[in-house]
Amino acid sequence: MVPMKQRIRWLALHGFVRGLSSFAARRGDPQARLIADPQVRENPAAFADEMRSRGPLIRGRAALMTFDHQVANEVLRSDDFRVSSLGGNLPAPMQWVMRKTDPGLLHPIEPPSLLSIEPPDHTRCRKLVSSVFTTRAVAALRERVQQTADELLDEIDDQTGVVDVVQKYCAQLPVAVISDILGVPDKDRSRVLHFGELGAPSLDIGLSWKQYLQVHDGIAGFNAWLAEHIRRLRRNPGDDLMSQLIVASDDGAQLSERELQATAGLVLAAGFETTVNLLGNGIRMLLDTPQHLETLSARPQLWPSTVEEILRLDSPVQMTARTAGCDVEIAGHHIAAGDMVALLLGGANRDPRVFTDPGNFDITRANARDHLAFASGVHACLGAALARIEGATALRALFETFPDLRLTAPPQRRGLVNLHGFQRLPAQLGSRQATTAGLPA
Ligand code: HEM
Repeated sequence: MVPMKQRIRWLALHGFVRGLSSFAARRGDPQARLIADPQVRENPAAFADEMRSRGPLIRGRAALMTFDHQVANEVLRSDDFRVSSLGGNLPAPMQWVMRKTDPGLLHPIEPPSLLSIEPPDHTRCRKLVSSVFTTRAVAALRERVQQTADELLDEIDDQTGVVDVVQKYCAQLPVAVISDILGVPDKDRSRVLHFGELGAPSLDIGLSWKQYLQVHDGIAGFNAWLAEHIRRLRRNPGDDLMSQLIVASDDGAQLSERELQATAGLVLAAGFETTVNLLGNGIRMLLDTPQHLETLSARPQLWPSTVEEILRLDSPVQMTARTAGCDVEIAGHHIAAGDMVALLLGGANRDPRVFTDPGNFDITRANARDHLAFASGVHACLGAALARIEGATALRALFETFPDLRLTAPPQRRGLVNLHGFQRLPAQLGSRQATTAGLPA
């Protein structure tokens, strides 16, 4: 039987918001539409264009929202704003209920996750992992990423009929790469992927009871698996980042046990739950524009800028949020201390004041890299360099190996608000081309 405590927690965190949002969405409240309107989930770009035309900052029932590139960037970089935690803008009684019903699990957007802590703790924890993900350190992984892509393509080539490219390729490549970095054994990968799939809606609010239970199971399973993995590496350390973090935590001063689990868990989960969407979104966009595939075949040096344009136009992480730490003025609007601002990164990435003809997929766009798909400021994505290499390598390898790849049915979106990608891309691979296994330029 499900404990009553869980029901109460769901009601406070999601049930209440869910009920209110479906009512408020019908009356046009922008924040409620984001949560409860399936059309907005399916086509966030159209919603962003509509909202941006109302001004740089829009007031919703529970928070401010921005779809404006300059405002989003300013908030992300400002010392006047703090990261927001799960349910941080709920009314005080709901927050009290949440504290009383806290199951004690590590959650990606609750402290001590990197995403939810501030300097000096944030600086201390991030420093312990950042050296592995610098552009230079990640460049050394390029060959390993290429090899993983080639192995996966060999595996799918052996399958006959329709292949789901998301499950068999896009999801597998990032988890294999980040597992190598964190010393996760091959045999554990499918379990880790399964927990990630269950936990993916954890970044959304207004979940149904069924989704909430699924997320709870995913996070609980992941927490238990991670604790066991850390115990194993403590007994038998390897040459991986997780083993280094364990050493840092064992000396006591650098990282507590809970910080160790939260930091390692976030790096692992963020390492595959996001890039899968970049790859799936990219495949879909490129199949829709065969002229770009032709250009890329002749000019493979355009793969990195193509990845930037995919990140901009169909951003895998659609939003984040910050809370004002003091009264502050942004874009002529007064924001009071404690006000939350939802930053719609995907919308900001289509701001016509920054990107000319923003809806156009232009793989040679000079300023595509100015997108905010990896956010900016002190919490900017730690894995951006890795994601970029994975994107360029995996997409190039797929389209060079199977140039006749075709979708066999309409692709299905994941149906989440924040993590924006495809659940399934059923495809016919077509005949295989011998490639030079060249690394992206
Ligand atoms: C296309 C792929 C990816 C996208 C779109 C993406 C997006 C983001 C965004 C938007 C943030 C900032 C969230 C915020 O400020 O609230 C972030 C943070 C983060 N990302 Fe990524 N990410 C991707 C891949 C990765 C990978 C491969 C890793 C693995 C190392 C990773 C690890 C992290 C971590 C640890 C943070 C927290 C950083 C901090 O708070 O200091 N991400 N990511």
